[in-house]
Formats: sequence, C-alpha cells, structure tokens
Amino acid sequence: MKKIPIILDGDPGHDDAIAWVLAAASPELDIRAITSSCGNQTIEKTTYNAQRICTLLHLCVPVAKGRVRPLVSEPMNAPSVHGESGLDGPILPEPDFDLEEMDAVTLMEKIIRKSDEPITIVSTGPLTNVAALLLAHPELKSKIAHISFMGGGVQYGNWTPAAEFNILVDPEAADVVFRSGIPITMAGLDVTEKALIFPEDFERIRTLDNPVAAIVAEWLEFFYLFHRNLGYKGAPLHDAVAVAVLVKPELMESQELFVQVETIGDFCKGATVADFRSILKVSPNAKVLMGIDRQGFVDLLVERIAKYGKERRT
Ligand code: RIB
Ligand code: CA
Repeated sequence: MKKIPIILDGDPGHDDAIAWVLAAASPELDIRAITSSCGNQTIEKTTYNAQRICTLLHLCVPVAKGRVRPLVSEPMNAPSVHGESGLDGPILPEPDFDLEEMDAVTLMEKIIRKSDEPITIVSTGPLTNVAALLLAHPELKSKIAHISFMGGGVQYGNWTPAAEFNILVDPEAADVVFRSGIPITMAGLDVTEKALIFPEDFERIRTLDNPVAAIVAEWLEFFYLFHRNLGYKGAPLHDAVAVAVLVKPELMESQELFVQVETIGDFCKGATVADFRSILKVSPNAKVLMGIDRQGFVDLLVERIAKYGKERRT
C-alpha cells in the first residue's frame, strides 16, 4: 500500500489529539512532521500539548511551534471547551524530546521541499501556518498534493451563527487557502456535527485496555462535558474527520463546491459561503464533506486505537 505523506497542523485540543491518535495508528499515512497552531489555546499551550501527545504515542517526528497569532485578527482561544491547558482531563506524560529550533512554517517548507513526492497537509486548527507557508513560498504549491482541514460550515457556524471557530480565528488565512488552487477537502460542521461519539462508544474505547485507549476515553469524557450542556447526544469529533477522510474516504458523502470566506462584517465574518447554485459560474475549489457513516467512523477509531495495545510505536 502506498502511504500518503502528511504534515499534521493543529491546536490540541481534545479532538485534535484524537485525530492525531488516529493518524499515528493508520498505516495508510506517513507522518512527516507536526506543527502547532494558535487557536484552542495560546501557541505556548498547544505546542506543549503537541509534545505531550507525541510522547504519549511514542510518535517520533519533528515538532515545531507555529505562528503566535492569526495573520490579521486578534487572537482568540476556547478555554470553555478545552480548559485552561487546552487539553484538560487526564494526566499526560511530560515531553521526552525537544522542539525543532525552526518555526512551523520553516519546518513545513523544509519537509515539503525535500520530499520526493507531494505532501498532504492535515490542518485541524486555524489555517494560520498553512496560509503563511503559501504566502511565503508560493513555489511550493505544486508540491502540496492536498489540504484536508477541519473548518467552516456551509449551513451554520458554532462560534457565531455564521462562523465556525477555526475559520473565525483566522479568516484571512482561510481565504488564502481557498484561493490557493490546491485541492482541498473541507471537513466542516456539516459533516463533523454528524461525527458524534456517544458515551457507549467511550466505553468501547475504554475497554480496549491499553494506555492510549484509556486516555482517549477520558479526553472524550471531558470534551463531551461542554457539548452535553448544549444538548448534544455525543461528542462531535470534529478534527478526526479530516484524518478519517484520507484513511477511509468511503465513509464520507461530499459535494464539489465553490466556497468563499467572508473576512469582514458585523454578523458574517468567518463564514464559509458555498455557491450551491453555481450563480458565480466559477469552478468548485473544495470538496465539502456533507455526510458520514457514523458507525463506520466509530468502528475505524476503535480498530485503530486498539493497535496501541499490540505494538510499541517507534
Ligand atoms: O469548531 C471546531 C474546531 O475548533 C475544532 O478544530 C476544535 O479543536 C476547535 O479548534
Ligand atoms: Ca482543533
């Protein structure tokens, strides 16, 4: 099986962390690097969390710290969802390795430039690092095969009525990505709000009886607290969908759409606006995920998390 070379870029964050657990246990993927972004928490906290996740998973890949703040907008975080640390809940190991000296954009550039095959970027936080890379090194676009990201929503938002958090934090960055011409898969709220992990699924994972499964079950419990108070029947595992679509695309339903990002406005800043009726007569720029086989998604998670009990990751 030909592996897909990827760079994971995210703001862990409980669902970022579980997305990375899935990626690291998926033989279809070859993780070349991890970069932190500023979103759920400050860049310092999300970077520390990225190191702790890699230590927990024994995932030995270069990790670099991302941009301190969005391209233009003021930083905003989400402690109400992920806690003060950005990854509240279970105790995690302290990092057992040092960060790369270089920053995230430089690491992305190095990995992409030296790769003998195009790289897929999997972004699960604000698109700040990805946009900064594209602005600084437009010549590398031809070596980026695909950007699969969690963000947006063509029907509604979750941080404002119109905008999803990752896009709202850095709408200018999202605009750069959607205009880039690079093939993109948008795992927006349209699909991720259907990617619900129910409490009985937490138990399925917990009974896998390996240290990573135990931590994932606790992350799900914590992540569900915020959502249960909003009436959700399960935890919407947003970020893991951006990974699952690479590993098992047949789980997804999608539409090819032309999507634009609103970067100004009192009510709609950060909205991802899809031209469903081709009014603008412009070719689609994104594969927008609209549906998921929820049970198949949970089964994939369980199957992959079970692997942590069988083999030590090197
Ligand atoms: O809106 C959901 C997104 O915001 C997810 O990526 C979650 O981790 C938060 O960053
Ligand atoms: Ca995230």
